Amino acid sequence: MDGNKRPEEMVRITTRELADAFIAGQIAAIRQQVGDRKVLLALSGGVDSSVVAALLLKAIGQQLVCVHVNHGLMRKGESEQVVEVFRNQLNANLIYIDATDRFLDKLVDVEEPETKRKIIGGEFIRVFEEEARKLEKVDFLAQGTIYPDIIESKGVKAHHNVGGLPDDLKFELVEPVKLLYKDEVRVVGVALGLPEAMVYRQPFPGPGLGVRCTGAITRDRLAALRESDAILREEFDAAGLTASIWQFFTVVPDFRSTGVRDGKRVFDWPVIIRAVNTVDAMSAEVPELDWAVLKKITQRILDEVPGVCRVLYDLSPKAPATIEWE
Ligand code: XMP
Repeated sequence: MDGNKRPEEMVRITTRELADAFIAGQIAAIRQQVGDRKVLLALSGGVDSSVVAALLLKAIGQQLVCVHVNHGLMRKGESEQVVEVFRNQLNANLIYIDATDRFLDKLVDVEEPETKRKIIGGEFIRVFEEEARKLEKVDFLAQGTIYPDIIESKGVKAHHNVGGLPDDLKFELVEPVKLLYKDEVRVVGVALGLPEAMVYRQPFPGPGLGVRCTGAITRDRLAALRESDAILREEFDAAGLTASIWQFFTVVPDFRSTGVRDGKRVFDWPVIIRAVNTVDAMSAEVPELDWAVLKKITQRILDEVPGVCRVLYDLSPKAPATIEWE
């Protein structure tokens, strides 16, 4: 039987009972595969790797070693949430690496979007590899591969960025959710007791805020991006929009415009609000947001984020615009 093919008779996991049965089955399978040996996992804090971490914790506890690499391009509070949930609440063996300076130093003056992506992905593998080499006797690598990854990209989980480890670092893979669709992974995550904010997290690209701070990333624009994104998320939550909009974020482009503050002319950054609805991210529509919500977000960003003098709402559908700006 092809272990990468979902059996036709496999029931779709839609309820707590089905999730509990899946979890029990996987715990037994993981224990059988791993025995008393150690498993390494790159824990980004995304839905898939978080669910795999929670599942492995239930199955093998301290034999799981999670590594969270903060590349400095995470959203506000995201790395902190990974540490809080996995280390403090679930008592996981978690190595937290703040590699912010390393990534941002490599990205200085790099303007081209695909080059930025390659640098971020490549550096991620190097940091992860260095940590893996420090550990003794780890035989397995767990991955949050899900079924669409297998169907669409031959099992390569692009945004986990751990596909490119060197040949001398050979691990046997543990991929407990590889036959599940995203909605099923979420049902399993809830059954495992993960916080809803983690389980229902909107898609976040592997290169993170790096592709939303357009052109060459600078620390001041990155700070403006992180703060404005946090304000947008807070206000969408307050307006009850979070569950109904597929993906939303801010962008800080690498051009400035004139403004006036305290009677003086300034030359500051704009913040662009991007919100889209889509089924499969291949095409996307822009929702008609309530004017009062947009105005409140605009005012808060102008009042609270230094170096910003304008807020724009991107009305462009995909196509011709992509969802991200780079
Ligand atoms: P675009 O911008 O191509 O985005 O319309 C479609 C979806 O893919 C996400 N995206 C990425 N995800 N690595 C990822 O893991 C990337 O480099 C990347 N670029 C775009 C984007 O956020 C959207 O959900």
